[in-house]
Amino acid sequence: MDHKGLFLTFEGLDGCGKSTQVHRTASLFRNAGFDVLELRDPGSTSIGETVREILLNPKYSTMDAVTELLLFAVARSQMVAELILPALDKGTIVLSDRFYDSTTAYQGYGRQLNLELVLKLNAIGAHNLVPNLTFIFDISPQLSTERMMLSGKLPDRLENEKMTFHERVRKGYLEIAQKEPTRCCIIDGKKSEEAIQENIYHELIRRKFL
Ligand SMILES: Nc1ncnc2c1ncn2[C@@H]1O[C@H](COP(=O)(O)OP(=O)(O)OP(=O)(O)O)[C@@H](O)[C@H]1O
Ligand SMILES: [Mg+2]
Repeated sequence: MDHKGLFLTFEGLDGCGKSTQVHRTASLFRNAGFDVLELRDPGSTSIGETVREILLNPKYSTMDAVTELLLFAVARSQMVAELILPALDKGTIVLSDRFYDSTTAYQGYGRQLNLELVLKLNAIGAHNLVPNLTFIFDISPQLSTERMMLSGKLPDRLENEKMTFHERVRKGYLEIAQKEPTRCCIIDGKKSEEAIQENIYHELIRRKFL
């Protein structure tokens, strides 16, 4: 699949700096004269936001792991069809706060669902779209918890999981990057917001995306 635009995704544990860097990267592209679309997965469409509410609501503590996997694919499928593919065709730079690597890391490695099944559903939910570049901000589960407590947000259903779950998710992200080193760029999430933005800027220049 070849599009005029670019599709970049931002990944990592809660509080690793995804939203911060999506906004900063959007500014970089906008200042260079590009059209930019900022999205969050799950969400961004009316259907997707409704599914997001179900996925993150702590009241659904009994949600089955396969149900969860399918719901993420549902929300993503709508976002790809309704927003991402049309935007890429117009030459827009699409930035997504999480995408299918989150499903691989959380449902595959965290929940330990069959990886082959997860990857198959990821491809279906993404309409076979693959990001041009994925930034993975690597932080420890301890730093993740500290940042979440500092920001004062109430934990959602997935954030309520145990430390060992988040350790597996972190390892999952690192393995994804190992398997797809060209697509993925790991950045040390302990660094300052400015230092991380600098890393992102240099990676975009190196790939002639900016
Ligand atoms: N590099 C950084 N160093 C220190 N603090 C940071 C850094 N990046 C972001 N923060 C702070 O950490 C908190 C979480 O950042 P942010 O919301 O960008 O993370 P996130 O990955 O989007 O989290 P979530 O998964 O919960 O949406 C915020 O309070 C933010 O100001
Ligand atoms: Mg965020």
